[in-house]
Amino acid sequence: MSKLCKLLGALLVLAAFAVPGPVQAQSAGAKAQAERSAEQPGNNAPVWRDVKSGEKNYTTLPQHQGAVLIQSPLRFTGQSAFATAGEAWRNFRNGPLIFYGGWLLVVAALAILAYYLVKGTMKLKHAPTGRLIERFNSLERIAHWSTAISFVILALSGLIILFGKFVLLPVIGYTLFAWLSALAKNLHNFVGPYFILSLLLTIVLFVRDNFWHASDAKWIAKGGGLLSGNEVPSGRFNFGEKGWFWIGVVLLGVIMSVTGLIMLFPNFDQLRETMQQANVIHVIGAVVFIALSFAHIYLGTIGMEGAYQSMRSGYVDEEWAKEHHQLWYDDVKAGKIPAKSTGAAAGAPQHQH
Ligand code: HEM
Repeated sequence: MSKLCKLLGALLVLAAFAVPGPVQAQSAGAKAQAERSAEQPGNNAPVWRDVKSGEKNYTTLPQHQGAVLIQSPLRFTGQSAFATAGEAWRNFRNGPLIFYGGWLLVVAALAILAYYLVKGTMKLKHAPTGRLIERFNSLERIAHWSTAISFVILALSGLIILFGKFVLLPVIGYTLFAWLSALAKNLHNFVGPYFILSLLLTIVLFVRDNFWHASDAKWIAKGGGLLSGNEVPSGRFNFGEKGWFWIGVVLLGVIMSVTGLIMLFPNFDQLRETMQQANVIHVIGAVVFIALSFAHIYLGTIGMEGAYQSMRSGYVDEEWAKEHHQLWYDDVKAGKIPAKSTGAAAGAPQHQH
């Protein structure tokens, strides 16, 4: 029963975020707060002015720590600059996390751009045959795009929450930024759980072809041939793709999901400190995940001819399969892997005899 109450409470937390209503305050500041909330949803400055004034207030929040508005002073640090645990977390988030996280994203984007300018799009060495092989079935494509689209929404909304105050606010002003960040926050809250479901489906569908294979050792030894241009024969997925699966999708996906849920549902008696730790891990995970995703998105679009089409239509040309995944191609041809071929996909080019 108490579990049920907690789950219902969790849904209420989500609903509360969906409608940014005025914050309740038992003071003269209530009116000011109601006005501020209407103009700039999420801006609680008037209430906090009351809190800091030393006036006595009360809370009806049931969680333990619910009545603690300002955390106790730190016990474990002698740093006088950090007056409270809340301040220490805030300074860490707004200091090193934002600084190094921001630079990591900029450097990753520039590295991909430089690679593209030097190498250009990786094209097929020989002409396509016109004969097609099914590479991804429709369920795999639904799982992939559902995870990918929700990831992009989470990444963009998360970046607005993380950097917006420093990067966007000075440019677009308070009113627009208040609405934009409220939108980002609500999108993030609702898309988060959806992302987790898509992620789990993606992991279940793709795990089979991402286990270690003897050919991976050769791929590692030659750095995948990405720099030499001579690709090492690989199975359905090469070692680089497997790295993205295990480190990106599985490890970072699970870290983001667990830490996200800890912050999203504060009604399971977790302490504020736990949520601050979850926030720090969530931010580090986010910038690493987004930086890695640049490489994946690059290779899946302008970096490699035919890659985007394969996840869009589900089909690849035989020549593409041979050049990029030779061992997979051999197995399909030998009938070891059942895969539909030519003309089976609606809209796919027809078999050329
Ligand atoms: C995997 C993709 C995800 C990325 C790239 C991402 C990114 C971010 C970023 C950058 C922040 C800002 C942190 C800050 O400003 O301190 C954030 C906050 C947050 N994220 Fe995520 N996140 C992801 C997934 C999730 C998931 C799956 C959930 C929940 C199920 C979630 C829930 C939250 C919550 C509750 C916050 C706190 C927002 C606030 O400051 O009020 N996130 N996320």
